[in-house]
Amino acid sequence: MLSKVILLALLVAIASAALQSRARQNFNCDDLLNRQIAIEFEASHMYLSASNFFAHDRVALHGFAKIFRADWKEELEHVEKLVNYGIMRGSNVITPAVPKQDDAQWESKTVCDIIHDTLNFEKKVNDHLHTLHKCADANYDPQFQDFIESEFLKGQFDGNKELADLLTRLERATQVVHQNGTTTSTCDGLGLHLIDKELQ
Ligand SMILES: [Fe+2]
Repeated sequence: MLSKVILLALLVAIASAALQSRARQNFNCDDLLNRQIAIEFEASHMYLSASNFFAHDRVALHGFAKIFRADWKEELEHVEKLVNYGIMRGSNVITPAVPKQDDAQWESKTVCDIIHDTLNFEKKVNDHLHTLHKCADANYDPQFQDFIESEFLKGQFDGNKELADLLTRLERATQVVHQNGTTTSTCDGLGLHLIDKELQ
């Protein structure tokens, strides 16, 4: 009986063992690579959810819907690049789970809040890319470093600058001057409409 249990355990272990790559050489960042794939996949789903919200007829901000729809596709391209790279390096790529989205989350936020939160999320994505780069550096993997630098880092900083600019323009266009001279931004009204038209 005991030998049957041991045999069964062995068979399960063999069946669940990952395929060993023949091409693999000096790649030691599997977990971090899989984490980056999952983060990019999460970003793509979040942006699809945001795009759907902006396109709803009670919101009708089609410029914002358009940029988030483009971001959805761009993040999927990032996922594909990372997956292809992992396969090329003989890494055991883990297909990410589809993250459940809270589609109602956008309703309680202003557009400025959404852009602000998106910028913060993208900074976290960027932080993780730097962690990935550190792993490549620590393992003397110049090819992996070059891949991260050339395919991700510049685009990441460019994207963050665009989001930061958009937030500033939104705040300026919807600025209200109060009687005591202080200013706040409503992030709504005609200013928001005009910015949205520009994005269409
Ligand atoms: Fe990305």
